[in-house]
Amino acid sequence: MVHGCLPRPLRYSAVTNTSRTASGRPRVFSGIQPSGSSHLGNYLGALKNWHLLQDDHDAVYCIVDLHALTLPKEPGEVATGTLEMARMMLASGIDPERSIFFVQSHVPAHAELGWLMQTVTAYGELNRMTQFKDKSSRDSGFVSAALFTYPALQAADILLYDTDVVPVGDDQRQHLEISRDIAIRFNSRYGDTFVVPEHHIPAAGARVMDLQHPENKMSKSVDSPLGTIDMRDTPKDIEKKFKKAVTDNDGEVRFDPQEKPGISNLLDILAATTNGDPAELANNYEQYGPLKADTAAAVLAVVEPIQEKLAAISDDDLADALAIGAGKAAEKAEEVLDRAYDAVGLMRRRS
Ligand code: TYM
Repeated sequence: MVHGCLPRPLRYSAVTNTSRTASGRPRVFSGIQPSGSSHLGNYLGALKNWHLLQDDHDAVYCIVDLHALTLPKEPGEVATGTLEMARMMLASGIDPERSIFFVQSHVPAHAELGWLMQTVTAYGELNRMTQFKDKSSRDSGFVSAALFTYPALQAADILLYDTDVVPVGDDQRQHLEISRDIAIRFNSRYGDTFVVPEHHIPAAGARVMDLQHPENKMSKSVDSPLGTIDMRDTPKDIEKKFKKAVTDNDGEVRFDPQEKPGISNLLDILAATTNGDPAELANNYEQYGPLKADTAAAVLAVVEPIQEKLAAISDDDLADALAIGAGKAAEKAEEVLDRAYDAVGLMRRRS
């Protein structure tokens, strides 16, 4: 279902922190897992908007390497993925001069507040999380306790920065709801401590679907090479994947995610890459072929400049930018962590 395509205006929480950010602008925070390469869904649902929001927000963007450990990984795999994701973020337009850009494990306050958040998160709430149900049922082997408590760490990520707005794809809606519930519960138990964040889900591209299985979202964790557009795919591969995209037999181009998931997904991708409206774009087409060709061309126009930038970013530059970002993030995060410890009323070490 391409529900995320419904336009949703950007809203701020009743409690905003604009007086707390040095710039006076609302704070935006988001995170992405370093699972190797990113796909078109990550870009259209998240990275593209992170880039745009930098202009008028105080932006903090994080590669959530600790979250990646909730599913089994080979030693070193997460480090490699972290550098690759950092490169993709810079190539997608995240500017470390304007945004704080860092790795989660470089700022220990995330793990610390994550623990505190677990103490105000109910077992029953975690049990209702659809991502836990999906991921734990997909893997028949080891299911970690961390996969279950994942949303408490995600709440900590967000709340540590007095975040007003969290730009994410539609699949993070439930995680954002629980983050809000956790903040509200903590505030009512211990006094006003955290800003209660709002999500920001784009009008188009919020739920990019698999091109071969348009009833499923495009995902890093599902093996569907023809259905997934990797941001590093060659132009030839991208064109081929759109040409082979699964559609239907009724021959009518119409935006109808329920009845026509394949065609609606193409229209949604075209809308997200051209800043259009999927239902209006449908009026320009009478046949599937031209829609597929135009969507492939629009995606290439977005992907090719990013690929050129990827090649120009050195590991050294990345490591430097991430080190500076971690310093800036830690300063903000430690202040909020202290506030939370004080609110709970732990005995603090004498300094
Ligand atoms: P992750 O790493 O799975 O995805 C990163 C971002 O990409 C979006 N996304 C999509 N958008 C549209 N279509 C798709 N097919 C698609 N697939 C992924 C996601 O919605 C997300 O915005 N739990 C988070 C990471 C996280 C986080 C946070 C996010 C940890 N802490 C704090 C926000 C705030 C996740 O696994 O995203």
